Amino acid sequence: MLQKMTKTMIPLPLPYLILLLSTTIPTTATTSAYPSVPQDCTLSTGDEKLVPVRREVYGDGRIFDISHRYTTDMLTWGSNDGLGQFLWLPASMKNGSLANNSEMKMPTHTGTHVDAPGHMIDRYFDAGFDVDTLDLEVLNGPALLVDVPRDKNITAEVMESLQIPKGVRRVLFRTLNTDRRLMFTKEYDSNYVGFTTDGARWLVKNTDIKLVGIDFLSVAAHDHLVSAHLEFFESREIILVEGLKLDDVPLGIYSVHCLPLRLLGAEGSPIRCILMK
Ligand SMILES: *[C@@H]1O[C@H](CO)[C@@H](O)[C@H](O)[C@H]1NC(C)=O
Ligand SMILES: *[C@@H]1O[C@H](CO)[C@@H](O)[C@H](O)[C@H]1NC(C)=O
Ligand SMILES: *[C@@H]1O[C@H](CO)[C@@H](O)[C@H](O)[C@H]1NC(C)=O
Repeated sequence: MLQKMTKTMIPLPLPYLILLLSTTIPTTATTSAYPSVPQDCTLSTGDEKLVPVRREVYGDGRIFDISHRYTTDMLTWGSNDGLGQFLWLPASMKNGSLANNSEMKMPTHTGTHVDAPGHMIDRYFDAGFDVDTLDLEVLNGPALLVDVPRDKNITAEVMESLQIPKGVRRVLFRTLNTDRRLMFTKEYDSNYVGFTTDGARWLVKNTDIKLVGIDFLSVAAHDHLVSAHLEFFESREIILVEGLKLDDVPLGIYSVHCLPLRLLGAEGSPIRCILMK
C-alpha cells in the first residue's frame, strides 16, 4: 500500500514543498494517527518479490477461519490419493488471454462442506431439498465450540454428559479427529470418530441444536454412516457442516458464519465458515 502510494505520489508545487520542509515537527515522532515509517521501507522498483499473505486468524484474533484450504493433496472421501488436480487454467495470460480464468471440478462434499437432506434421503432429493434451500439463519448465529471426550464416539451417553443447555442451537464438536489431524492427511482413515446412531437420535430428541458441525468429512462414525445421517436428515431442520478446521481455536461461544454456494439441485456444497468473537 505504502509502496503504491509512493509510486503514484503527485509532486507538490515548490512553495508547498518549502513550507513542508520548514516545519519543525521532529521526523521520528510517532503517534497512533501517524505511525513511523518502517526503516526497511524502500521505493518500489516494480520488480519486488510479491508475497501473498495466507491466514488462519484475522483481526488480531477476532476472526477464526474454520474452513480448510482446497489443495490437490487434501483428503477426499474413501481415497488415499487426495483430491488430485481440481483446478485448470484453460485461459491464461501467458498464452495470450486478457486474463487468467480457472475452472474447477471436485465432489461437492470435499473439504469443509455442508450436507442437504437430499444427501441420503432420496425422496427429499427428488423433492428438491438441495443446498439452495438450507436456512441461512441456522448457518449464521451464536454457536458453542465444545470438546468431546477423546476415548469414545459421540454416543447418547457422551451427548448427555456434555450437558449442552436447552436453547443452544449451533454446536461445533471438536473430537479426536482434530488431535489426530485427520483432515490434514491424504490417507482416508475409517477409524475417525463421529456420531453413533443413538448419539444422533439423542441430539435430535433432547436438544435444540439445529447446526451440527464436526471436524471430519462425516458427522457419522464409519459404522453408523447412513443410520446416523438419517437421524439428522429426517426432520430437515438440522444442518450438518462437515470437515471443519477447529485446531487452535479456544473453547467458547462465538458467532458462527457459514455460507454454502447456491448450487441448484446439489445435495452438498463447499462452504466457507468463520467464527467471530
Ligand atoms: C496467470 O496464468 C499464469 C500462467 O499462464 C500463471 O503463471 C499465473 O500465476 C496466473 N496468475 C494468476 C493470478 O492466477
Ligand atoms: C498454453 O497453451 C499450450 C498449447 O495450447 C498448452 O500446452 C499450455 O499448457 C498452455 N499453458 C498455460 C500456462 O496455460
Ligand atoms: C469410533 O467408531 C469407529 C467405527 O465406527 C471405530 O473405528 C473407532 O475406533 C471409534 N473410536 C473411538 C474413539 O471409540
